[in-house]
Amino acid sequence: MCGIVAYVGERTAYPIIIKGLQRLEYRGYDSAGIALVNGKINVYKCKGKVMDLEKLSQDKDISGSMGMGHTRWATHGEPSDTNAHPHKSMKGKFYVVHNGIIENYAHLRKELQNRGYKFTSETDTEILANLIENIYFEQKVSAELAVRLALTKVVGAYGLVIFCEDEPGTLIAARKGSPLVIGVGEKEYFLASDATPIVEYTDQVIYLNDEEVAVITREKLELKNLYNDSKTPDIKTIELSIENIDKGEYEHFMLKEIHEQPVTVQETFRGRVAMDESKIFLGGISDVMPKLLEAKRIVIVACGTSWHAGLVGEYLFEKYARIPVEVEYASEFRYRDPIIFDNDLIIAISQSGETADTLAAIRKVKDSRATILGICNVAGSSISRETHAGVYTHAGIEIGVASTKAFTSQITVLTMMALLLGHKKQILSTEEYQKLIHELTLVPDKIREVLAIEDQIEKIAATYKDASNALYMGRGALFPVALEGALKLKEISYIHAEGYPAAEMKHGPIALIDEKMPVFALALNDNNYEKMISNIQEVKARKGKVIAVVTKGDKAVKSMADHVIEIPEAHEAIAPMISIIPLQILAYHIALMRGCNVDQPRNLAKSVTVE
Ligand code: F6R
Repeated sequence: MCGIVAYVGERTAYPIIIKGLQRLEYRGYDSAGIALVNGKINVYKCKGKVMDLEKLSQDKDISGSMGMGHTRWATHGEPSDTNAHPHKSMKGKFYVVHNGIIENYAHLRKELQNRGYKFTSETDTEILANLIENIYFEQKVSAELAVRLALTKVVGAYGLVIFCEDEPGTLIAARKGSPLVIGVGEKEYFLASDATPIVEYTDQVIYLNDEEVAVITREKLELKNLYNDSKTPDIKTIELSIENIDKGEYEHFMLKEIHEQPVTVQETFRGRVAMDESKIFLGGISDVMPKLLEAKRIVIVACGTSWHAGLVGEYLFEKYARIPVEVEYASEFRYRDPIIFDNDLIIAISQSGETADTLAAIRKVKDSRATILGICNVAGSSISRETHAGVYTHAGIEIGVASTKAFTSQITVLTMMALLLGHKKQILSTEEYQKLIHELTLVPDKIREVLAIEDQIEKIAATYKDASNALYMGRGALFPVALEGALKLKEISYIHAEGYPAAEMKHGPIALIDEKMPVFALALNDNNYEKMISNIQEVKARKGKVIAVVTKGDKAVKSMADHVIEIPEAHEAIAPMISIIPLQILAYHIALMRGCNVDQPRNLAKSVTVE
């Protein structure tokens, strides 16, 4: 949700910032801008993508070894040249790029207007630039102190980089609620919303904490909190490599990430499932295991695709560990008055680890005695740091805005947790436990088998590419898969799609069915198979088009569906991870055929750090 890149050092800042912004474009892509310092400060910004910014800056002065850039996902004010960042304060002293939302912007704006400030944009960021400048002049303090004082007046979230015209070699960065990473090099520093723009230059990073301010020149970095207490930077080594952030042979990141799943699922269980498949070891939660075993209830909080993974988790925990589960939209949970018991286990699931609502949901319960776990993909992310313990998904960086590999890895973690707890609680016998672990280890190969029939799925996509609506239906743990299939289709192809538990169709949605309505049915050879056949018949009786995901060798569904996609036989514990693959591929090809921007769908951003 908005991407920030900044540099100070001995190199030319422009190419570092542009390349970094391209890497962060998945976070927002409706406008872009850059400010470069070389004696004077040059600002170039425009509506559109980083590519448009590059065109704009052709033939301009792009010199300077300090600079900052921004790629925007609009919150306050439509995408436009004026609303693009960086923003300059009215008297021209301060330049600001910002990720987040200033919630009390209206109040601050009014106060500043009363002091004679005029605004050129509709953004909350310009208010911040003016607020800092006003304090700078009125209180005659240093730029850094003006920033800190201004931030104490701000309600909301921010990841910020600021220059002051009077201190041309200094970058000031601050964070509250929106991530910022500092890359530490030799006489140079890099700043970015995540580590992807930095890894090319250094693997030494510092994650800024909330309410921390960094004052950075090419020679040194000073870290403090808003109240001027000095902090010791905690420099970490990151493992991200350049290959992870490249499309490689694929046309899109989403396709690459779909195809990576055999490997990413394996990465998720690598080192955690014993080679002989006899046990599971999850180091990240071993210290809190006694508390987990006492848990009387699990509350899962998440958003979007991660929420769908949570729903799959509900089936897994209930079935294999016999623990009751509630799965909550983090955005609703945070504003309720939830009843939390001491022996509750709260699990936050988040690919980015930065989703504002999920973070707020765990903060809501942090004063309770419940144990809070995180299932995150991004190491060092806010959620992973604010939970008592957790398990990383290790799926590697996910760049396509539509989540794919993170989903299967989240389910892999949930499966391991459910089996481990089930066995430790003696609900699963050692024999059952080992059998299920073995099933889990078969997932990569079964996903490979589905990926091998991509051509066939692409042909089906061609048949339905012009649909205006689509329904998805499944039962049991395949109901969340139906929800996820529908989300994938709607978010990248803009076809209206809904997922339902198949039995709910007759309570309303079946009224939508006519000969134009494709219905994607998950009808695997499991306990719900006969029931799914009846549901498919109900759709066919109303002339709906049925595209069924079935178990290899299926005959009954094949005889009634318009198309079938055969996937390998999969135990019900792992079936969600296998059956989502054809739905991801379908959504991808339909979106592509409709000419949509698959990796950067309209109105979306990868990491939703605003509520
Ligand atoms: C959909 C998608 C979103 C995210 C949601 C939560 O494809 O990616 O629905 O799942 O924004 O994000 P994380 O998992 O980062 O908390």
